[in-house]
Amino acid sequence: MPAEGATDVIVIDHPLVQHKLTLMRQAETHTQDFRRLLKEIAMLLAYEVTRDLPLKHEPIRTPLAEMKAPMLAADKKMVIVSILRAGQGLLDGMLELIPTAKVGHIGLYREPTTLTAVEYYLKLPQDIEQRDMIVVDPMLATGNSAVAAVDRLKEASPASIKFVCLLAAPEGIQHFHGQHPDVPIYTASIDEYLDDHGYIVPGLGDAGDRLYGTR
Ligand code: URA
Repeated sequence: MPAEGATDVIVIDHPLVQHKLTLMRQAETHTQDFRRLLKEIAMLLAYEVTRDLPLKHEPIRTPLAEMKAPMLAADKKMVIVSILRAGQGLLDGMLELIPTAKVGHIGLYREPTTLTAVEYYLKLPQDIEQRDMIVVDPMLATGNSAVAAVDRLKEASPASIKFVCLLAAPEGIQHFHGQHPDVPIYTASIDEYLDDHGYIVPGLGDAGDRLYGTR
């Protein structure tokens, strides 16, 4: 895995992630399985994205001995921001693994003709400046939503930002890192290209619709 820093794209190629992603891609996978698989993958992505969390050593007593044991440094606070609505699918799994994280939401929809992102909702916890932020959205397609979300979230001055998605298009990565080279992207796959409607190919279709059975 490459070291994190400017314009990093970290592809999580763990076999469990790749297997579950293949199941999600399949057109015949039903909503309830799609949702469960996204939650499971989100937990595995959370494991990778938190790899650099600092530890402190605290004195504890096991049944056999005293020791100084590693624990997460308490001052390392996190906030996970979900880009509505498909981000909710990743958020659920991340919260299983990081239950103490605060949660923010940003609502953006894609204007269908121009594919530009239009904000309709924003709610963030108050003490953002002390928190490391993980922004989640399963599909980094054009990158318009991700760029608009991070533009807005940077106004709140979080301690750091990481972007986590399931699939990324090369076009989306280029656009996102053109605007936000300081924000590393974590993804399970870099797919081939975007089609004329802004869908990732081969992709998995509309993540929100597949997650909630709305089409
Ligand atoms: N959003 C989706 O849900 N799917 C895509 O392929 C692109 C954007």
